[in-house]
Amino acid sequence: MRIVDLRSDTVTKPSPEMWEVVKSWDDSKLGDDVMREDPTVNELEMKAAKKLRKESALFVSSGTQGNLISLLSQTTPGDEILVEEESHIFGNEVGSAARIGGLMIRTYSSERGFPSLKKLQTMIRDSEEIHEPPSTLLCAENTHNYHGGTIIKPEELKEMRDFALKNNLKFHLDGARIFNASVASNIPITDFTKHVDSVMFCLSKGLSCPVGSMIVGSKDFIDKARKFRKMLGGGMRQAGIIASFGLVALEDKWINRLNEDHNNAKRLAEGLLSLNLSISVQNPETNILMVYFPDNTPMEKIILSLHEEGVLAYDISQKIRFVTHFGIDEDDIDFSIEKIGNILKKILK
Ligand SMILES: Cc1ncc(COP(=O)(O)O)c(C=O)c1O
Repeated sequence: MRIVDLRSDTVTKPSPEMWEVVKSWDDSKLGDDVMREDPTVNELEMKAAKKLRKESALFVSSGTQGNLISLLSQTTPGDEILVEEESHIFGNEVGSAARIGGLMIRTYSSERGFPSLKKLQTMIRDSEEIHEPPSTLLCAENTHNYHGGTIIKPEELKEMRDFALKNNLKFHLDGARIFNASVASNIPITDFTKHVDSVMFCLSKGLSCPVGSMIVGSKDFIDKARKFRKMLGGGMRQAGIIASFGLVALEDKWINRLNEDHNNAKRLAEGLLSLNLSISVQNPETNILMVYFPDNTPMEKIILSLHEEGVLAYDISQKIRFVTHFGIDEDDIDFSIEKIGNILKKILK
């Protein structure tokens, strides 16, 4: 049965070029990374730091681990951190900031990742006031997953950066998909990352590596982060085997391939719009498309019917999220439009 898996860009498999690198493997490219002796991991970390024009980088097992390590490295237990209310850090990281970091999380709202700085200002705690915890870290997510792959523009990040500086906060970016933001807006990645103290980006999403994320920032930050990675059991020894995929992923040619995913998300949006159904279809900015349904729509039934017809997607309350990625082509999108159309025409009537 034909399956088009639009649940997430985490389902991607490595590209043929990545497999070529692994095939040409030999022992000289491996070492003990905890001892800093794995040449492939060292090369990947240097490449990531250079690409984002920061001093240092660290290879970590996942985006979740990278975010947590970034928080731990820039806060003290008992601090309060400002996090967007629909962000991955707040909603999908098992409460690790509280449980492991001892941090209070204060959430701010936003339409697409960028908050009202006026409102944010009212959330800053008064460190002189005896009852209040200190606010020490601001977090943003770019692109923003649950708002539908929306982009926080470089000038907005700068505003957030100025706000953070004014209030004596560090600024962390969950940039799991920051390369999508850069490619979709045709703006160099450094124009985004220059405004933040630390950034986590994922190799294992649109960049289609099997495993891994990077955290990037100052040398001082990464030195601390390396120790927290070890504390969390993330010292990975001969990790060059998995890091080698990342070396291919960080080539410009591969990064620019993300355009295909963005075009496919647009194609899907246009196809669904042309069905003239009582749904609201987002105009996608990157590789995530949100489709909104009227209240009381039987979402579970729709998702189940889609799965039976070979189109996989997730529902998030009254919306369905479709994610395009490596391995999905225009034909898959057209197939999906047809299947989705047939099902929705029956169910929405
Ligand atoms: C915005 C965002 N941040 C962080 C993560 C966590 O990445 P991982 O699944 O590698 O832990 C995800 C995963 O989907 C994500 O969408």
